[in-house]
Amino acid sequence: MWHMIQLNKRPIGVFDSGVGGLTVARSLRKALPREKIIYFGDTARVPYGNKSKSTIDRFSREIMDFLVEKGVKAVVIACNTASSFSLPFLRNNYELPVIGVISPGIKKAISLTKSGRIGIIGTEATVNSGAYHRVLKRTGGKQYRMFSASCPLFVPLVENRMTSGEITLRVVEKYLTPLKQKRIDTLILGCTHYPMLKKVISECMKGVKLVDSSEAVAEEVRDVLASEDLIVPRNHKTGKMTCYVSDAPDNFKKISGLFLKEKVDVKKAVLR
Ligand code: DGL
Repeated sequence: MWHMIQLNKRPIGVFDSGVGGLTVARSLRKALPREKIIYFGDTARVPYGNKSKSTIDRFSREIMDFLVEKGVKAVVIACNTASSFSLPFLRNNYELPVIGVISPGIKKAISLTKSGRIGIIGTEATVNSGAYHRVLKRTGGKQYRMFSASCPLFVPLVENRMTSGEITLRVVEKYLTPLKQKRIDTLILGCTHYPMLKKVISECMKGVKLVDSSEAVAEEVRDVLASEDLIVPRNHKTGKMTCYVSDAPDNFKKISGLFLKEKVDVKKAVLR
C-alpha cells in the first residue's frame, strides 16, 4: 500500500556495494534525523571497486528496482564507484531524484581550494572512470587541476579495523606521497570507507584540507528534497533506518558498529 503514502513521508533509499555507505547514512541521519532510510548493501557482490562499468551498471539497476519497489522518494548512491559509472543511467531511466556522491564532493573541494590543485583518491574503478575529472571540468572550468590516486588497500584496512597504527600509516604514505609531491591543497576522500581513515590521512597530508563527501552529500540531499517538496513534515519523530543486504546480515551488523553509533535492523534481501 505504499503508493497511498504521501510522497514526502516515504523513506530515502541509500545504496552501496556493502557496509561503507553507512558513512553517508550516518551523515544523513545527522542532517535529516526525521527521515526514514532504507539502506541496501550489496554484500554478496562487494567489492565494486575492481569491476567493469557494465557489471556495476547491472548491479545498480537491480538495487534501484529493489528500492523503488520499497516505495522510496529519492535514492542516494552512497558508493563512489557506482556513482562514477551508473549515475547518468539511473537519472535518465527513473522518475525519482537520484543523488550521487561525486558532484557534492567536487563542489565542496572547489569551495575550499586556494591553489586550485585538488587531489582525489578512490577505488581503481572510480579513478579510472575519470568521473571526478569530468565533473570538476564541468563545474569549475579550466582553472582547476586534479591529481588522482587509487588506494585499493584502504577498504580492507578499514573493514579489518585497522584505521590507525604503523602499518596503516605506511600504506597511507605509500599511496599519498605522489599526491603530496603534486602540491595539492585539497583532497577529496572519494570512497565510502576513507572518512574512517581521516586521522591517519591528515597526519600524512599536513596542511591539506580533506573533503569528506558524506557530509557534502547530506547537504545536497537536503537541498534536493527541499526543492522538490519532499522533506518529511516537521512534526515527525526520528525516522527509522532499515538495512537490507544481499548476503550475511550478521556480519554486516557486526561491522556496522564501526560506522554507526546506533543499532540497525538488518535483513537479507534477494534481488531480481
Ligand atoms: N563503496 C565503494 C566505493 O565507495 C568501496 C568498496 C568497493 O570497492 O565496493 O567506491
